[in-house]
Amino acid sequence: MLPPDQFLDIFRTACAAGHFLKCTLGKPTDAAPEELKNIYLRPVTLKAGPRIAFTYRYRTRDEVKNFTHDEAASQLKALLGIQFLNADLFSAETDASLAFSKTGKAVFSTKKPANSAPPDTRHDRKKQRLLDPAAPWLHALGITNKQGIVLPTAQDKWKQINKYLEIIESLLRTHPLPTDARIADMGSGKGYLTFALYDFLTNRLAMQPQVTGIELRQNLVDFCNQTAREAGFDGLRFVAQDIADYRPERLDMLIALHACDIATDLALATGIHARAGIVVAAPCCHKQVRRDMATQNELAPVLRHGILEERQAEIVTDGIRALLLEANGYKTSVFEFISTEHTAKNVMITAIAGSGKAGGQQAAALEKVAALKAGFGIREHYLERLLRT
Ligand SMILES: C[S@@+](CC[C@H](N)C(=O)[O-])C[C@H]1O[C@@H](n2cnc3c(N)ncnc32)[C@H](O)[C@@H]1O
Repeated sequence: MLPPDQFLDIFRTACAAGHFLKCTLGKPTDAAPEELKNIYLRPVTLKAGPRIAFTYRYRTRDEVKNFTHDEAASQLKALLGIQFLNADLFSAETDASLAFSKTGKAVFSTKKPANSAPPDTRHDRKKQRLLDPAAPWLHALGITNKQGIVLPTAQDKWKQINKYLEIIESLLRTHPLPTDARIADMGSGKGYLTFALYDFLTNRLAMQPQVTGIELRQNLVDFCNQTAREAGFDGLRFVAQDIADYRPERLDMLIALHACDIATDLALATGIHARAGIVVAAPCCHKQVRRDMATQNELAPVLRHGILEERQAEIVTDGIRALLLEANGYKTSVFEFISTEHTAKNVMITAIAGSGKAGGQQAAALEKVAALKAGFGIREHYLERLLRT
C-alpha cells in the first residue's frame, strides 16, 4: 500500500471505530488556495449524525465545513501531497504522520497515541474551548496579538467573552434555536460579543445564523462590517440604526448587552413584540427610573443616601424588566454576568419564551409591577410604555 493510502486507511478505521481525535494538515503548496495556512479536522456529532469538521485557516479568517466520514476521506485524498505536504493524525489507538518531500516522495509513520481518551464529539462539551484565541477577528478587535495570545490589556474582555459564550451555550442546550436562527445584537458597539457569538454558533455549533448588530455609531458599524468581511463571516452584518427604528420580520434571539439606559428597554420591547424565543440582556446605566423615584415605602429613610438610592433604582429597574417579561409569557432569570472585579455592569437577565407563567400568573406579574411602582413612587417604567404601543 502506498503511504497516502496507509494514512487514509488509518483515518477511515479511526473514524469508523469512533477513535479519531484530530488531524492537522500543514505546509501548503502553491496549489492550495491563496492565504490558506492549515486545515484542522475534528469529529463532531450533529443532529444529522457524526461528521468530520474541517476548519480551513486562512491568514485572516476561518471557514468550517462538515463532511460525512466518506466525504472527509475523499477530501483528504484530494489534499494530501497536492495542497498540503504534511498531515498529522491523532486517534485513541494510533497516531500517524504523512510527509511529502518537495520532489513528491511520501513517508508514512505511526506511533503510540499521545492521547488515548475516546474523543468527545459533543458540541456542548465542557472541556472544549468555546472560542479559538487564534481566530483572526480577535486580533482585528485588539484582543489578541498576531500569534493569537490574549493581550494583557484585554484579559477582562476575554473573560467576559468566554463567560458570555458559556451562558449562551447553556441557554441553547435547553432551548435550541433553528439552525438558520435570526439574531439581533442591539447596541453592538465595537462588536466583541457579536463576533464571539457568531463564531461560536457557526464554528462550534455548526449553525448558519443571520446575526445583525445594530449600533448608532457609523464608524463602529463600518469597522465591524469590514472585519466580518475579512473573517469570512457571511451571515454577520452591522447596521447603523437606532434600536427604536429596528423592526425585524423574524427574530429568534434578542441580545442587548450594556445598551445605555432606556436603549435596553427599546431592545427588550422589540424582542417581546417579535416574540423572540430567547432574550439576553445585560443592562447598563439606569437613569429613567431613578429620575422618577420618590420612595413611599419603608426604605425611604435608607434611600435618602444617594448611593443607596442609585443601587435600589437599578434593582427596581431590572426587577420590573424581569416582571414585564414574565407578564408577556417569558420565564426569566436574573444573575451575575461576570464578577464586579471585572466590570461594574454585571447583571444579566435571560428570558425564554413560551415556558413562562400562563394566564393568571401573567396578571399577577403585572400586579407586582403596580405594587413596586406605588412603593417607590414611580409613575411609569419606560418598558411599560413601549409595550403598550
Ligand atoms: C456600552 S456599549 C456596549 C457594546 C457591546 N454591546 C458590549 O457589551 O461590549 C453600548 C452601545 O450601544 C449603542 N447604543 C446606545 N443607544 C443606542 C440606540 N438607541 N440604538 C443603537 N445603538 C445604541 C452605543 O452607541 C454603544 O456603542
